[in-house]
Amino acid sequence: MTNFLLETSDLAVVVGAGQGIGLGLVEKLLASQPRLTIVGTYRDPNRAQGLFDLKERYVERLVLQQADPCDETDVAELASLVGKQDKRLHLLINSVGYLHDDQRGPEKSLKDIDVEHLQKYFLVNAIVTPLLAKHFLGLFRHKDLSCFVSLSAKVGSITDNSLGGWYGYRASKSALNMFLKNISIELTRRGCKTIVLSIHPGTTKTELSKPFISKSTKLQLHEPIEAATNILSVIQGRAITDGGEFYSWNGEKLPW
Ligand SMILES: NC(=O)c1ccc[n+]([C@@H]2O[C@H](COP(=O)([O-])OP(=O)(O)OC[C@H]3O[C@@H](n4cnc5c(N)ncnc54)[C@H](OP(=O)(O)O)[C@@H]3O)[C@@H](O)[C@H]2O)c1
Repeated sequence: MTNFLLETSDLAVVVGAGQGIGLGLVEKLLASQPRLTIVGTYRDPNRAQGLFDLKERYVERLVLQQADPCDETDVAELASLVGKQDKRLHLLINSVGYLHDDQRGPEKSLKDIDVEHLQKYFLVNAIVTPLLAKHFLGLFRHKDLSCFVSLSAKVGSITDNSLGGWYGYRASKSALNMFLKNISIELTRRGCKTIVLSIHPGTTKTELSKPFISKSTKLQLHEPIEAATNILSVIQGRAITDGGEFYSWNGEKLPW
């Protein structure tokens, strides 16, 4: 097989499936890929009701695991659980991301720079991905084509940055892109037939984007399930030579 196909995939992992696009990805994969088993992670059961509802409908094919993706012990336990599924891992999508919390939002100017906040951006948006790659590498060492995907953001493109601002979010997504390029090179060198992709999901109506979407926005807005459909279309049919690249939700290549 020279192209990655969701239809022939056995096992997928969606990290950050408790809400937003990650939840949409689990829902779309369950509904469209009847042979696929999915492991979905969440942090807080109080924010993952949609995922628990899906578990009631897909008892056999959905495995849930509580895990904090920033905690290496949790990531190692997750990889161990996935390894015990007795199926080949064909797809991993990291849908974790951070833009604002109750107290803080993205920096508007240099006066807003705060060391602890920048560290949080880099931990959640960038460092989680190489941590996942470290612990899942062994599970991608098989003869089939597989995909390792992280959701990035167009604002992480250095070439595309004409507005400035959002220092931590932009820079951490740029760092994520560099991590993904490196992971792509290392997985290939280590004999994995894994296509590593950085994907911008498009502006999507989730908790992450809510404070920044005005009623008058000219941006094209997506529901999480639409974003999931678009992301899966970008993944579907990819060849190993498409790996180590940055794609937009409509399949166009984005500049780094
Ligand atoms: N929405 C957009 O318009 C948009 C645009 C461009 C890129 N993206 C990217 O798409 C991805 C998915 O975002 P989304 O829109 O679906 O956002 P979301 O609904 O807010 O979901 C964010 C995910 O990240 C997890 N997360 C947030 N803060 C975390 C932390 N401190 N530690 C560990 N996990 C944390 C959340 O876990 P909990 O549920 O446990 O909080 C959740 O699983 C992100 O990488 C985001 O940067 C989104």
